[in-house]
Amino acid sequence: TSAEAVQQNATATTTAGASRPQKLHILFGSHTGNSEGLAENLATRAKEKGIETEVSDMASFKARNLKKIDNLAVIVSTHGLGEPPVQAEDLYNFIHSKKAPDLSHMKFSVLALGDSSYVDFCQTGKDFDAALEKLGAERIGPRQDCDVDYEEDAEAWQEKFLDAFAETSVEAPSAEAQSEIAAPKAEAKYSRKNPFEATIIEKIKLNGRGSSKETIHLELDLEGSGLTYEPGDALGVYGANSSTLIDEVLKATKLSGNEEVESHKGKKSLNEALTYDYELTPLSRLSLTKYAELTGSTKLEDLLSDNDKVLEYLTGRDILDLIQEESYKLKPDELISVLRKNTPRMYSIASSQQAVEDEVHLLVSVVRYNAFGRDKEGHCSTTLADRLKVDDKVKVFVDKNSRFKLPQNPDAPVIMVGPGTGVAPFRAFMQHRELAEKKGKSWLFFGDRNFRTDFLYQTEWQQYLKEGLLTKADVAFSRDQQEKLYVQHRMLENGKELYEWLEEGAHFYVCGDAKRMAKDVDNALREIIQQQGGVTPEKAEEYIKYLQVSKRYQTDIY
Ligand code: 2AM
Repeated sequence: TSAEAVQQNATATTTAGASRPQKLHILFGSHTGNSEGLAENLATRAKEKGIETEVSDMASFKARNLKKIDNLAVIVSTHGLGEPPVQAEDLYNFIHSKKAPDLSHMKFSVLALGDSSYVDFCQTGKDFDAALEKLGAERIGPRQDCDVDYEEDAEAWQEKFLDAFAETSVEAPSAEAQSEIAAPKAEAKYSRKNPFEATIIEKIKLNGRGSSKETIHLELDLEGSGLTYEPGDALGVYGANSSTLIDEVLKATKLSGNEEVESHKGKKSLNEALTYDYELTPLSRLSLTKYAELTGSTKLEDLLSDNDKVLEYLTGRDILDLIQEESYKLKPDELISVLRKNTPRMYSIASSQQAVEDEVHLLVSVVRYNAFGRDKEGHCSTTLADRLKVDDKVKVFVDKNSRFKLPQNPDAPVIMVGPGTGVAPFRAFMQHRELAEKKGKSWLFFGDRNFRTDFLYQTEWQQYLKEGLLTKADVAFSRDQQEKLYVQHRMLENGKELYEWLEEGAHFYVCGDAKRMAKDVDNALREIIQQQGGVTPEKAEEYIKYLQVSKRYQTDIY
């Protein structure tokens, strides 16, 4: 058969003495499963084209093996502030170090994942791209930078890259053979591109009266969608802009909203496009850049040349601030051309499907603040809090996260650190474990501002403690006393026991704020390992690396 012919063909190239084997190595690095999913997908497509592949996680890849690779695809995300994700750190440091080898035999291309609302958009991918070139490697396809709605761009990059790869490699299988073995991929019915309209069946404000926070618990109905999820997965949710903000934007641009525009979703009225197809808040760097190009504003161009100033400018501003500050008269199509496409927000799922069946539960922190003289609202969180009511529908899809999963062994102890809405996946974990036959020990660290008003899901945790499903719970209410009290302080107080749990094989999970909390918790964990294990910081680092590689230290941070 042709499939056999292709296999023979592939074998022939790998054993063909003089020519280097036509093998593609795919290296991925990220916190979430996104880059892993893309790496697997690329490998599948490559295999369909008769290309032999090897996929490796940067977290466990031995950097010195880099020089053995002839053809490399790098798929890497950027951490919050332009840094590599921990999984990619070692390799990142290695290729920027004096130890980095000559790679002039290598061909490569980079797919960079990121979030354009951050200033250092796709920085890690850019750094990998530049470093590989500097080491002599030849770029066989341009780097592709992808925003949070990465799917289309990633797909285009995969196509281009595999075409370029086939052209430059020794012996590509015939097009005929390719089409014979390319099996159609099973597409999930509902996805990011084709979201499901879920009905809101319950909406509850969790904070007590007088709280300084606003957190809501939502229950959505997935019946008929065929969507499935596991604890640790996230739900992508599409928001819609408020009519008040749209009206203000229309007023500022002196447009009516009835003009017909060509949105990325097709022809429609400007008003409708502004409601569903684009974001008005927050202002992204990309929008600012496009606006500057469009208007030719020298003031904005100067601003864009200074990274720190851009960051400062973007903080707290939305598109309306920008339009109001400049005097340029935007035409309807120009207005939408500068806007960011409506991008789903990912919420860590707060339920186990085994327990709630057709439902999915979310814990949402509602974002509201005042900046530059106006009250501002989080795009998606206020859609859920203000604009949608029980019985309304909202567009959703499941975002699998293979990097945040309960231990395979149901007996293994789990330590869960989840202040604020970071506690969501741990509610899913507990619901899941409640139904399991074997239940390992579990320990929750929760924190929020005030005990009286902000103890999210308090009665559920208390019930789990009573049942013995939750072995231990330690809480830190930061604003109930003079001094700040945080989850990491509770960890340190319990250092001895925490270390014992780790030594017993506990899995350690952190969910929530990436900028400060996750770093502080990571430092506390290192300190505990040093103190309780009586080891040097270097040994503690090795211990942490070991936990990470064996998937016993997992984070879902944002
Ligand atoms: P704060 O708002 O009083 O500073 C959930 O948002 C909880 O996380 C709040 O109690 C918040 O405290 C707390 N928090 C803020 N910064 C933190 C940090 N660096 N480490 C741990 N918790 C933090």
